[in-house]
Amino acid sequence: MQTYHTPLDLVRERSPERPVAFARPDAVAVAARWFQDNFKGDVFYAVKANPSPWVIETLAKNGVASFDVASVPEIELVAQYAPGSRMAFMHPVKSRAAIAKAYFDHGVTTFALDTHEELQKILEATGGAKDLTLMVRLSVSAEGASYSLSGKFGVEAHEAAALLLATRRATQGKMGVSFHVGSQCMRPTAFQAAMAQASRAIVRAGVMVDVVDVGGGFPSVYPGMVPPDMADYLDSIDRGFADMMVHEDTELWCEPGRALVAEASSILTKVELKKGDALYLNDGSYGSLFDAAHVKWPFPVKLMRKDGDQAVDVEGPLRPFRFYGPTCDSIDHMPGPFWLPEDVREGDYIEIGMLGAYGVAMNTRFNGFGDAETVAVEDAPMASMFGLAGRTIRLPREQQQEDERKVVRLSRPKGRAGKSRRRR
Ligand SMILES: Cc1ncc(COP(=O)(O)O)c(C=O)c1O
Repeated sequence: MQTYHTPLDLVRERSPERPVAFARPDAVAVAARWFQDNFKGDVFYAVKANPSPWVIETLAKNGVASFDVASVPEIELVAQYAPGSRMAFMHPVKSRAAIAKAYFDHGVTTFALDTHEELQKILEATGGAKDLTLMVRLSVSAEGASYSLSGKFGVEAHEAAALLLATRRATQGKMGVSFHVGSQCMRPTAFQAAMAQASRAIVRAGVMVDVVDVGGGFPSVYPGMVPPDMADYLDSIDRGFADMMVHEDTELWCEPGRALVAEASSILTKVELKKGDALYLNDGSYGSLFDAAHVKWPFPVKLMRKDGDQAVDVEGPLRPFRFYGPTCDSIDHMPGPFWLPEDVREGDYIEIGMLGAYGVAMNTRFNGFGDAETVAVEDAPMASMFGLAGRTIRLPREQQQEDERKVVRLSRPKGRAGKSRRRR
């Protein structure tokens, strides 16, 4: 991968016609080390958030040795770029062929399930293996999340006891519980509440669990969504774990996706046309801007302009714009608002930030677009949960003040005590 010092250097040297994805491996490294140092258990990276080889390699180099995978191609990717890592197949619905391939070809022994049928499938497809770790995915409240993941997976409370008991009886290896509080969780206490729910399910079933997996959901920074400190989330998990009905050796796991990679990528797009407050770009909802279109997240933006042999950052009075992507589909619309200098014009470049999670990963080739090159850059992300940049996004004053009011400061926002213990 070619490296430029900043996105502006790339614009100056290359005036790219196609979108360019910027990779910031240092941002992945810092986030990975923060989780390793502060989470009092095992950190599994949720590969789906960003399966780029440079991400997997950077995580592995920075101590992440466990990966949450959802498909055979993700397993193959981890096997190739982080060989020897531990993998957990956490998709609650898998084909028999995928289970068998994971177990027999790649040594995957951890599998998630949320039905009796899936439990049976895993037992049969692994030939009644005795070394399995079976994780029962529970449905929990997604109240604190900006992106609910509770609709599709997770056994409901009234059915959980029977499934937990059946799983305990079926495995000669380990068993555990997992859940997902929803992505971009804005409320740290959601984890403690979910753990209390999980504990009640365990008690009702009368089983002991070997693993508690608190899933993903750890947030990043977006305009209008400025979360509390990451340390507050881990404090909530510590409190939740201390109150759970589990044994002394029960392991604690987490599966962050977004939090490890969101800051680490942005995309450079070119303005093809300006029509009033609409900017037509060469990337859109079928490219890296899925969430900007479908959940209407207003990602942060910066304007750059080629000026002769030079490239400059364009400042000036801001106004809100909306974007259209390059395809012919009218869904290819990102309402924003995206605050840009009002004299933005055709030929300008817009860097759209905080797209490392579920952004560059969503790229399709629909209509012949989406063929983005990736280059590394060395500048800071537009915002950071880990001290690489501010924890708010620079916006016009009125919007900025509103965002700052949203930064919920809980009692102890500083650092965290060292990772000295796994339990109580
Ligand atoms: C099972 C599982 N674990 C972890 C994640 C990662 O979630 P996040 O990116 O919100 O941390 C997801 C996201 O869909 C998931 O389905």
